[in-house]
Amino acid sequence: MTANDRRRTALVTGASAGIGTAFARHLAAEDHDLILVARRADRLAELASELHRQHGIRAEIITADLSDPAAPAAIVHRAAELGMPIDILVNNAGLSAGTKFSDTPWDSVAAELQLMVTAVTELIHRVVPAMKAQRWGRIVNLSSLAAVSPPGEGLLYTGIKSYVLNMSQSLDMELKPFGIHVTALCPGFTHSEFHDVMGTRDAADRLPGFLWQQPEDVVREGWAAVSAGKPVCIPGVVNKVSAAAMRPIPGRIGYFLGRTLNPFK
Ligand SMILES: NC(=O)c1ccc[n+]([C@@H]2O[C@H](COP(=O)([O-])OP(=O)(O)OC[C@H]3O[C@@H](n4cnc5c(N)ncnc54)[C@H](OP(=O)(O)O)[C@@H]3O)[C@@H](O)[C@H]2O)c1
Repeated sequence: MTANDRRRTALVTGASAGIGTAFARHLAAEDHDLILVARRADRLAELASELHRQHGIRAEIITADLSDPAAPAAIVHRAAELGMPIDILVNNAGLSAGTKFSDTPWDSVAAELQLMVTAVTELIHRVVPAMKAQRWGRIVNLSSLAAVSPPGEGLLYTGIKSYVLNMSQSLDMELKPFGIHVTALCPGFTHSEFHDVMGTRDAADRLPGFLWQQPEDVVREGWAAVSAGKPVCIPGVVNKVSAAAMRPIPGRIGYFLGRTLNPFK
């Protein structure tokens, strides 16, 4: 049986909240089977049964901590045991440390890098051979508007998301000839649990409403972009204008702005 004869399967990391939950809902409504990955099993199980009930799709959960170096291999192994080929990978799980680099214990820094750099890259590396063999695949990597913004003082987040943006484009160039689209999705401020986890909820709530998007809108535009084969997607008019305005900022001015304008310092 080829990928064209069966319902396609999407693996969504970070499906227990925010943008990941919205991706799961969107892909289920488009008749995809799902593998939902995160640490909070109760939330994943609830979402899986809701989406199975609503859309008749198969939805399985894999409980995993993606800051554990063993997680990507274990996840791909479990998907194979479930008999679910990963046709679509949504590399979404992520967070930003709420403390400055030098105040953060090394174990937490290493966990942040493992979660958002190594696990993201390793999951792609592990699913690409089968996608190449079937000559079809879709990969969405959550970058951020932060990737094209001035660096945030003491945060690895902007550097990490710049890596994801750059890496996605490189892999899209390599894999497009095999029918695999890779898209870096770069949202701006999006309603989710992100700022609760980071400890910046009060500062986030003081930002004007027009800067914010709903996760469903981010996902709709991101999924349309990967389907159309666009390597980069900056969702929403406000974010597109912000990105265009920031692009010509010279490095030294960007450095100054990063130090002075960060609302989450
Ligand atoms: N919200 C924004 O303003 C914004 C803007 C630009 C980019 N982004 C990016 O969008 C992505 C999704 O963020 P969000 O806004 O939806 O945040 P969120 O609501 O906090 O959701 C984050 C998801 O990541 C999962 N996760 C975190 N650490 C994990 C770990 N160690 N192992 C496995 N799963 C883990 C969480 O699940 P568990 O806690 O259950 O494990 C949760 O499902 C992130 O990559 C973020 O950087 C967000």
